[in-house]
Amino acid sequence: MNKLEKARDYESKNVKKITSDERPLYHMTPAIGWMNDPNGFSVYQGEYHLFYQYYPYDTKWGEMHWGHYKTKDFLKWEILPAALAPDEAYESGCFSGSALEREDGKHLLMYTAHLEEGEEEKTIIETQCIAIGDGIDYVKYEENPVIQEEDLPEDFCVCDFRDPKIWKTEDKYYAICANRAEDGAGQLLLFSSEDAMKWKYEKTLERCFYEYGDMWECPDYFELENKDIFVISPMNMKAKDLEFHNGHSVIGMIGTLDKESWSYKREQVQNLEYGLDFYAPQTVLTPDGRRVMIGWMQSWASSTFPPEKNQWFGMMTVPRELTLKDGRIYQNPVRELLSYRQDPVIYENIDLQETLELDGVSGRTIDFTTEVDFSCSESKYFTMKIAADDRYYSLISFDVEKESLTVDRTYSGVHHDIVNMRTFPAYLKNGKLKLRVLLDRFSVEVFVNDGEQAFSMTLYHTPMSADKIVFGSEKKVKMNVEKYAIITNE
Ligand code: FRU
Repeated sequence: MNKLEKARDYESKNVKKITSDERPLYHMTPAIGWMNDPNGFSVYQGEYHLFYQYYPYDTKWGEMHWGHYKTKDFLKWEILPAALAPDEAYESGCFSGSALEREDGKHLLMYTAHLEEGEEEKTIIETQCIAIGDGIDYVKYEENPVIQEEDLPEDFCVCDFRDPKIWKTEDKYYAICANRAEDGAGQLLLFSSEDAMKWKYEKTLERCFYEYGDMWECPDYFELENKDIFVISPMNMKAKDLEFHNGHSVIGMIGTLDKESWSYKREQVQNLEYGLDFYAPQTVLTPDGRRVMIGWMQSWASSTFPPEKNQWFGMMTVPRELTLKDGRIYQNPVRELLSYRQDPVIYENIDLQETLELDGVSGRTIDFTTEVDFSCSESKYFTMKIAADDRYYSLISFDVEKESLTVDRTYSGVHHDIVNMRTFPAYLKNGKLKLRVLLDRFSVEVFVNDGEQAFSMTLYHTPMSADKIVFGSEKKVKMNVEKYAIITNE
């Protein structure tokens, strides 16, 4: 049995042992074992396919495979057999990459072959490879790797050279890859190809110069409302005020790319996510023209501790529609989620003072929006305890004067000394703050003011019985609440 057969055999014997209530209801998790980055997010034969960095045999990172799912609506995911395993001499791991549907109806995957050799002195060589398939089975191209050291300008390092994002224009294929420049910081390399098999280095599109972390990982490129966007996951960021938290972070660059000279004019850089758990996102363009992003709902530093009994670890965020407004990337849950909302509970213009629980506003698989009006209030703060009972809760609090939100899971049941709290800007709009909150058993995602900011946080250690929501305000405020149960008939 080769490694792929072994992984598929293991899946067929073990995946069924995980019951549906041990997983989130509408968020994607690995078939079994470990998951990190989303990979190959693409439309293939009318369905969305999503692959992911995968180690089936443990809930820790290991020899990287590609796991595989597909979905029609971004919320109900069908598990497919593992797609790639590190079976070839040029790889000890199949690292991140992307995918597209070729004109001949084949599904093309472009990934990084990561090769680590040597016991005491390790050498790492990263090259880019192709696999072609039919939506289930993928065959690695016999002339892999398709981009390697000799294709790079002299002195470019191959130990950090990964995560190709491929796209096609009318006449050519293009790919960008993350690479470490001579100064040790990240850069984005552009390659072109006539057939996606033979590639030519074109240009270094962007460089980090240690301004945003050091090595850049998992680049994505797309156009959004006539702007050219790069989404990048920098390693080892240093926080700047309340923007760009420390460690592994995600930024969005907005600018204009001249497609003749390949020069990029960077206009804005924004923090894409303010939560505790978000990294390495990828996007897909839907047939109806929406740019949808999904991210790994975890970060390398923050929450790498699964509950002991778990046979899986790692979740993806809910897929999010991206739009551009006033020079900023907004994100909101895909509209497909609306059709799973049931049993509305609506409160309008109610008074909140001190603490309040509302009939029907509770649960761990819900979608609710609260709009708090501070315009006629002297209240200095608003709080919301979620996934709460007498012992556990996670806190979202708004400081009215500073216009900042703080998210805190210190009392969520977590028993490791990891990052549990983060504060970031959130602005009043005509005196109001609007929060849309998605809870799904082991996580919470919040969208502020119709997507101006988003933040995610895993809640692996809060018992399901902790399902209360408790609102709080220092002084009287007016509030609207609209709550729905998410029901998928899983
Ligand atoms: C990002 C990353 C990628 C790499 C993969 C390995 O989280 O480090 O750069 O391809 O994970 O699993």
